[in-house]
Amino acid sequence: MTYTWHDPLLPSQDGVLEEGTKQHNVMIKIVDDQGDVISAFPAEKTGSLVDNGEKHGVQIPVSCQAGACFTCAAKVKKGMEDIDIGKVSVPLIDTDEDQILCCIAGVKDECFDDGKEHEIILEKYM
Ligand code: FES
Repeated sequence: MTYTWHDPLLPSQDGVLEEGTKQHNVMIKIVDDQGDVISAFPAEKTGSLVDNGEKHGVQIPVSCQAGACFTCAAKVKKGMEDIDIGKVSVPLIDTDEDQILCCIAGVKDECFDDGKEHEIILEKYM
């Protein structure tokens, strides 16, 4: 199943899709500590997860925005293999193997071109 995300900021790219809709094959879901989805947004090929969320109206709390604090950290519940932990810049602090810093992490480029569907589930600490 390919996700269809209604985003009024995105114009139709090819005239086939309805105006304001775009097909996405990488979806980010943020869950609470009970596993309930609290927000979701499609990933973009560029930018961090924080940037991608902001583009679709999802605010992920940040502080330094440089990979140097832990404010934006999340635990990856699913899809770690699809995440580039240093997409925007190199992490300046250590994290556990299942943790990422959303301000500098993004989705690996190849996920957008492989024709597969990807779902990344993040548990946010705050
Ligand atoms: S906001 Fe400080 S590491 Fe992301």
